[in-house]
Amino acid sequence: MTLELQDIYKSFPAESGGEVLEVLGGISAGLERGRFVSLIGPSGCGKTTLLRIIAGLEPASRGRVLLGGQPLSGPSRRVGLVFQQYALMPWRTTLGNIEMGLEMAGQGREERRAAAREYVEAFGLAGFENSYPHQLSGGMQQRVAIARTLILQPELVLMDEPFGSLDSQTRNALQEFLLSVWRQRQDTIVFVTHNVDEAVFLSDEVLVLSRRPARVVARFSVEAPRPRDRTSRASNQVRREILSVLKEQQEQVGLV
Ligand SMILES: Nc1ncnc2c1ncn2[C@@H]1O[C@H](COP(=O)(O)OP(=O)(O)O)[C@@H](O)[C@H]1O
Ligand SMILES: [Mg+2]
Repeated sequence: MTLELQDIYKSFPAESGGEVLEVLGGISAGLERGRFVSLIGPSGCGKTTLLRIIAGLEPASRGRVLLGGQPLSGPSRRVGLVFQQYALMPWRTTLGNIEMGLEMAGQGREERRAAAREYVEAFGLAGFENSYPHQLSGGMQQRVAIARTLILQPELVLMDEPFGSLDSQTRNALQEFLLSVWRQRQDTIVFVTHNVDEAVFLSDEVLVLSRRPARVVARFSVEAPRPRDRTSRASNQVRREILSVLKEQQEQVGLV
């Protein structure tokens, strides 16, 4: 197991007069190295909170995160994070953004430039190395953000709805792009989405979270062969099963 989530609970303290907000209610899961795993769950159920805990940006109230058998506490270069909002530095160019982490790690200018240039090529950004984020399309900005994270060679890549703000065609293209990168690198990826189609297209496994306080209510293996056909029988079958678990979650609180 490369990533082990051991009984993770998280509550946020009460706002003035309110109740304590229980967000995570005991999340346990083990993820193997090189797997592409999606987390899916209702909006507000605690997906971002869970990723922030795994990334060491937020302490758990209880429970542990182990990476390669060692407890993770606090931010680490071993874990890379990609957000929905690309969070690029607006005053830095494509190259400047991609090499930022290497710069912070103290790598020399020539070396990090050379590494960043390789990513520019591989990520289809050639010709835009000196552009600023506002001069790039949303899809390109997200490729820069992914390159900036992967260049640091993290053992674990966390992605929080990275394609959530893209139009559906760009989104499909970036899903295929991400898979092509992953096929070569075999990163271990935890990918948060609330889009069932996206989870099924991308993942080896899909973990379905309950409403708040979130627990893992189901875990599916997606057996459809790769490269995947979005409308194959195998894809449709697992999609139907995931949708049914999500629907049960909604029915339990009388939302439908
Ligand atoms: N720092 C915080 N303080 C208080 N409440 C928070 C904080 N961060 C998130 N929450 C609350 O926790 C719940 C889960 O949020 P989040 O993890 O962002 O859900 P998701 O990503 O699944 O939509 C929400 O009700 C949100 O308002
Ligand atoms: Mg979120």
